[in-house]
Amino acid sequence: MPLLNFKGKTFVQSHHLTVPYHTLVPVPERSLTEQVRLDDNLIIHGDNLAALKALLPVYAGKVKCIYIDPPYNTGTENWIYNDNVNSPMIRDWLGRVVDREDLTRHDKWLCMMTPRLRLLRELLRDDGAIFVSCDDNEQHHLRMLMDVVFGETNFVANLIWQKKYASANDHKSIAPMHDFIVVYQKSDLFHRNLLPRTEDKDRQYRFEDERGVFRPDNYTCNKTADERPNLYYPIVNPNTGDEIWPKRTAVWRYTRARHEQNVASGLVYWGKDGRGSVPAFKRYKAGLRGGGGIVPNTWWTFDVAGHTDEAKKEIRGMGLEADELDFITPKPSRLIQRILQIATDKDSIVLDAFAGSGTTAHAVLAANRQDGGSRRFILIEMEDYADSITAQRVRRVIKGLPGAKDRAMSEGLGGSFSYFEVGPAIEPEGLLTGEALPPFRELARYVFYTATGEEFRPEVLDEARRFIGSSGEYDVYLLYEPDIEKLKSLALNLEFAERLGKPADGKRRLVFAPARFLTDRYMEQYRIEYAQLPHEMYKTR
Ligand SMILES: C[S@@+](CC[C@H](N)C(=O)[O-])C[C@H]1O[C@@H](n2cnc3c(N)ncnc32)[C@H](O)[C@@H]1O
Repeated sequence: MPLLNFKGKTFVQSHHLTVPYHTLVPVPERSLTEQVRLDDNLIIHGDNLAALKALLPVYAGKVKCIYIDPPYNTGTENWIYNDNVNSPMIRDWLGRVVDREDLTRHDKWLCMMTPRLRLLRELLRDDGAIFVSCDDNEQHHLRMLMDVVFGETNFVANLIWQKKYASANDHKSIAPMHDFIVVYQKSDLFHRNLLPRTEDKDRQYRFEDERGVFRPDNYTCNKTADERPNLYYPIVNPNTGDEIWPKRTAVWRYTRARHEQNVASGLVYWGKDGRGSVPAFKRYKAGLRGGGGIVPNTWWTFDVAGHTDEAKKEIRGMGLEADELDFITPKPSRLIQRILQIATDKDSIVLDAFAGSGTTAHAVLAANRQDGGSRRFILIEMEDYADSITAQRVRRVIKGLPGAKDRAMSEGLGGSFSYFEVGPAIEPEGLLTGEALPPFRELARYVFYTATGEEFRPEVLDEARRFIGSSGEYDVYLLYEPDIEKLKSLALNLEFAERLGKPADGKRRLVFAPARFLTDRYMEQYRIEYAQLPHEMYKTR
C-alpha cells in the first residue's frame, strides 16, 4: 500500500495514547435539563482532543454515527495547530495561524487530524460509520489518512455534495460546486439504511388493481436482436390476439420462459382497457425490496441535501447574536439529516467533534421529531461561542422560535442537553503533590476505565462504600478524597477489608488506595488485589 508521509508523523502516531485524561466539569446554568448528566445530549466546550479522550470511559464503542466538519485548510480559516506534542519541531509550529504562505500547512493538518481520528475510531461502535466533510484542499490526504486509521477495506464512499445552486461566473479557473463527504465504517458490521421514498417516486405508483398499487415498467431493454437473439420473439396480447414484436434495436427485457411466468402471475399490463399494443411490467409497490426505500448513492444534489446559502439562512433565522456568526461555515441541517437517515437507528448516539453552529444537534432533534426516535447527540466545540452560538442554537431549536415559518420550529422540537467544560487534566503525578486533585467521581471514571478497559457506569457508583463499579473480573473500589491531608491517612487496611466481607460470588476486588496496611494472608482471604495510587492505574490492561 502506498504510504502517506508527512512532517511530524512519527511524533503524532501515538499521541492519542499520551493525551492525559481531562475532567468534564458540568455547567448547570448553561444546560437545558433538570439534572446535568453524561448520558444526556451533550455539548462540550473545549479542544476535541481532550474532550474525546475524556469521553472514552463512558462512550468507547458506543457511538453509531460520527459526522465531522473540520477546518478545510483553505489557508484563510485562521486555524492554529496547537497540540501539546513532545517534539521540538512541533513545538516550534505552535501558536501560529496556518495560512497560505505556510509551506507545512498540509503536514500540520495531518498532525492535527491523526490523533483525533484515532480517538474517534475508538468511540465508534463496531457497526458504526464516520462521515468527514472536506474539499479539494485535503480530500486526497484525508483519504490516505483514513485508510491508515480505519483500514482501506473499510472505505464506504466518497459523497459529492452539491453545495451551491448556481455557479460563480466570475471564477478565474474552474468554479467548484461541491464538497466531499468521505465515509468509512468501523467494520463490515455496518449496514447502511435505505432512504425513505420521495413523493416523486411515490407518484409513479398511480395505477391500481385488485392486488394493489403498481407502476407500469418498461418491458423492453436497450439491447439489439443481434446481441440478444433469445430476447427477440413475438408476444401475444390475450385480449386482442395481436402478435407483437419488439424493435430489433430494443428487445424484450425478459426471456420467453420468464415472460410466460409473468403472464401466469398476472404481471403483464396491457393498458387501462387491456387492448394496448405495448406490454408493461406491473411493479407492485407492496413487493418492493426494503419496503420500497431508496438505495443511497454518492450524488447529493442541493435539492435533496440543501446548500450553503440555505445553511446560512437557517442559522441567521435563529436570532443568534455573536460576532463570530459570520466566520462559521455552517452546513444545512438537511445534509446531516440525510446522513442520519443512512447511518443511524432510532436510538443511536451521534457525535460531532467540530460542532460550529450545532447543525448536527438540530438534525438529530429533527430526525427524532420525524420518526419518534430517541437518538442522542454529543457536540464538541473549542471556541467560546460554544455557549453563545452552539448551545444557544440548540436551546432555540428545543424550545422553539416564536414566529418561525416552519410549525415544528416555532413550537420547538423538544429535548434537553447537558453542558460541560473540559476541565483540568488528571495527572497521576499531581496526586503525589496534592496540586491537582480531581473530584472523586472524575478520578473514579478515569481509574475504572484505564484499569479494566470497560465502561464506567456512574449510576452504580457508591461513594460512601468507595465502590466505583464492577468489571467482568473485578469489583473495583477507590480509597480517595480530593484533600491531600485526608489522602495521607487513607489506606487499605483490615477495617476496610472487613467492611467488604467475604465475597459471596467469589469475585475478586481491585482496591485503589494511596497505601496498604494489610497482610498477604488477609488479601487472599478477602480476595483483594491492591493498586497503589497514583502509579498503578493501568492495572489489568
Ligand atoms: C467548519 S466549522 C463546523 C461547522 C458546522 N458543521 C456547522 O454546521 O455549523 C468547524 C468548527 O470546528 C471548531 N474546531 C476547530 N478545531 C477544533 C478543535 N480542536 N476542537 C473543537 N472544535 C474545533 C471550530 O471552532 C469551528 O467552529
